[in-house]
Amino acid sequence: MAGFKLAILGATGAVGREMLSILEERDFPVDELVLLASKRSEGEKIDFRGDEITVREVSERAFHDCDIALFSPGAEVSRRWAPIAAAQGAFVVDNSSAFRGEADVPLVVPEVNPEAIDQARGRHIIANPNCSTIQLVVALKPLHDAASLTRVVVSTYQSVSGKGQRGMAELEKQVSDLMNCRETAPEAFQHRIAFNLIPHIDDFTEGGATKEELKMVNETRRLLDLPSLAISATCVRVPLFIGHSESVNLSFARPITAEQAREALLTAPGVKLLDDPARNIYPMPMLAAGDSAVHVGRVREDKSQPNGLDLFICADNLRKGAALNAVQIAELLVQRGLVSA
Ligand SMILES: NC(=O)c1ccc[n+]([C@@H]2O[C@H](COP(=O)([O-])OP(=O)(O)OC[C@H]3O[C@@H](n4cnc5c(N)ncnc54)[C@H](OP(=O)(O)O)[C@@H]3O)[C@@H](O)[C@H]2O)c1
Repeated sequence: MAGFKLAILGATGAVGREMLSILEERDFPVDELVLLASKRSEGEKIDFRGDEITVREVSERAFHDCDIALFSPGAEVSRRWAPIAAAQGAFVVDNSSAFRGEADVPLVVPEVNPEAIDQARGRHIIANPNCSTIQLVVALKPLHDAASLTRVVVSTYQSVSGKGQRGMAELEKQVSDLMNCRETAPEAFQHRIAFNLIPHIDDFTEGGATKEELKMVNETRRLLDLPSLAISATCVRVPLFIGHSESVNLSFARPITAEQAREALLTAPGVKLLDDPARNIYPMPMLAAGDSAVHVGRVREDKSQPNGLDLFICADNLRKGAALNAVQIAELLVQRGLVSA
């Protein structure tokens, strides 16, 4: 099969590097790969399928003739460069929050709303949802189809890689400082993250919720096409390198037993059911890190309400929460004929 000219903006970052390994792993048809970052990384060499590719500073010329551009440079940079790449004909799949709220930019999780991608024919930009939202909706979709979701209460446990390479470097340094009796100070996070939890991800908004929490509310409603879904989120940063977890309480319009929920999850695309408490089998970030699936378990009926369920979800935030979902969107662009080689 002939391949595509593909650009990655943010190629040297945590998500960008994961994109490269997922493109290799899934054998995405790439004929030419353009690796882009800021001036800081210009000249750096990165290996792709055995070839060394030199990272270039992003510029208008860089997107010439590109079919697809995968973006993960952060919202401000995406806002500047996505329209430039799209104007040259590339389909931009953006990992940042820059375009997620725009009605004419589709927000896509391939297991949940693949048809939404057709809307990208207009602006040529597709938004990859927030990492915590992606893993939540992959697990909720089969349950909603089975019993009609009416309310979601979710608390997250989000690893430091959600803050990119700075976040991972900070946890590593703080653990080493503290274990060696050295003083340590926060830089990437608001407080020390080593041996601590921080209930604060992204900025606070007027009502007291953080932007991360509002992203989960708004994006879940949009992805499930439930604009008035009752949903409340609390997002917490935890001292783990990779893997976001979620404790979820659900209410449904129709009765659903834990057994019926397990059956629906067992065959749901992108879900791995890990639910055998008698044998200590349940989702943990340790198991989800490096895996493509969203792990779901601890499925049980919530007896405090009619038609209620509790569950626990884990996924690799750099993979399904970002890079894998972006590459799946690129595959969907090909499958639905928006790009052809
Ligand atoms: N980490 C996650 O779990 C996750 C999940 C979903 C979405 N996202 C989103 O993905 C984006 C990147 O996250 P990350 O974790 O990969 O961050 P990261 O590790 O900090 O990497 C950032 C990347 O963007 C590049 N970049 C920064 N400023 C730039 C500029 N002015 N011009 C061109 N390139 C620039 C950096 O290049 P240099 O090396 O040259 O600095 C680097 O390649 C963010 O929007 C984040 O919200 C992250």
